[in-house]
Amino acid sequence: MAKVKSAFFCQNCGYETAKWLGKCPSCAEWNTFVEEIIEKQVPSVVAFSTSSRQATPQAIHTIEQQEHRRIQLHDKELNRVLGGGLVAGSLILFGGEPGIGKSTLLLQMAIEASSLVVLYVSGEESEQQIKMRAERIGLTNESCYILTETNIQNIFNQAEEVTPQLLIIDSIQTLYSSQIESSPGSISQVRECTAQLLRYAKQTGVPVFLIGHITKDGTLAGPKVLEHMVDTVLQFEGDRNHVYRLLRSIKNRFGSTNELGIYEMLGSGLRQVENPSEILITNTGQQLSGISIAATLEGMRPMLVEVQALVSTAAYGTPQRSSTGFDAKRLNMLLAVMEKRCGFKLGAKDVFLNIAGGIKVDDPAMDLAVVAAVMSSNADLPIEKNIAFSAEIGLSGEVRPVNRIDQRISEAEKLGFDKIIVSKFNKGIDPKNYTIELVLCGRIDEVIKELFA
Ligand code: TYD
Ligand code: MG
Repeated sequence: MAKVKSAFFCQNCGYETAKWLGKCPSCAEWNTFVEEIIEKQVPSVVAFSTSSRQATPQAIHTIEQQEHRRIQLHDKELNRVLGGGLVAGSLILFGGEPGIGKSTLLLQMAIEASSLVVLYVSGEESEQQIKMRAERIGLTNESCYILTETNIQNIFNQAEEVTPQLLIIDSIQTLYSSQIESSPGSISQVRECTAQLLRYAKQTGVPVFLIGHITKDGTLAGPKVLEHMVDTVLQFEGDRNHVYRLLRSIKNRFGSTNELGIYEMLGSGLRQVENPSEILITNTGQQLSGISIAATLEGMRPMLVEVQALVSTAAYGTPQRSSTGFDAKRLNMLLAVMEKRCGFKLGAKDVFLNIAGGIKVDDPAMDLAVVAAVMSSNADLPIEKNIAFSAEIGLSGEVRPVNRIDQRISEAEKLGFDKIIVSKFNKGIDPKNYTIELVLCGRIDEVIKELFA
């Protein structure tokens, strides 16, 4: 009888050991080791084996450069995040928390790609469920095939019949290969199935999307180990209580990772949001204290977001500081700067900060808008509605320059703002180039004078 070989794998990061361990030496997670049986693979049953062609070294100047053949999808946001279209033969990992809309987005993409033969493989839902979802989206594509299957060999058999031009797998955690004993979703299954799909993509030139679930702490459960195998890692994120969803690229071998796609979840599927600023700024008509508008950049995309602050006297001994959508440590730092450099007595005040629309922004250029919103709420004086802010705040209270300032100014101008407050240390901005009024400040005190004098 053949000896059964097994090993223990960390289900978080894929670390392999011969013995069970309580704590993973690689990712420091506790209780993540699971025994998985690893049998020797028989190469003859591997659905797509690598060819035996031997590679020889080539001088770099003799290698011919090939343009990647790109398929333009109907979805412009997705095209942009992929770096200008879907590259033939690429393997894309599409991650996100359960229920965020991964299946919806990819099914929508499959149905909209009416010029392509698409094979959508689902291991999670029945054909009826997928049909129901397609009905909600309200489009049809006669060359979109649905397959409910979890065995990878059967999927390849069906793919040979259908010869799709685009393959979607929902999700990688439900697939299994019969050559491996362990259960679907385990590290060795996920790794093996991905390796086979990678070979399929490279040999046939068919782009493959893999949906992967992400755990609460933001890491891809299991599929974390896949990030280095795939060409592109996309992440779909957003607050489930809000309708906006962001599509980010974390890794992309065929483009920049700075691009961002924005969608709105409607009853009829996901709608592309072309002008995010308009939806992120609430238009109440009244002037309220504690509200300011920041001109930020998400990747390469300028957008204006609304910052809301509430400063009130602390009811209990220790004041509370709470922040949604903005780094809490950065908020504390800004409060300390205001206290020390401008003499605001915020030590005994509760400070709450919120970025409207349920989005998270991580851009130093938000600083000035945050400070302005806090000051406005503290003094209970509204900031005029037509002013935008874009600058970083330094520890000594100086207003610092930020990158791509002209893009930020142009966005504010485009949206009809009359004034934007930026750092006077930004290089090469000429007020004559803009119709919007530029207010150049060097210190926070100057900003206060400008706003509340
Ligand atoms: P789903 O795509 O199933 O999420 P995932 O595959 O990431 O787990 O989407 C789940 C949510 O989307 C579900 O709660 C309902 C909502 N939804 C809409 O709001 N509108 C729609 O048209 C569809 C199809 C789903
Ligand atoms: Mg799903």
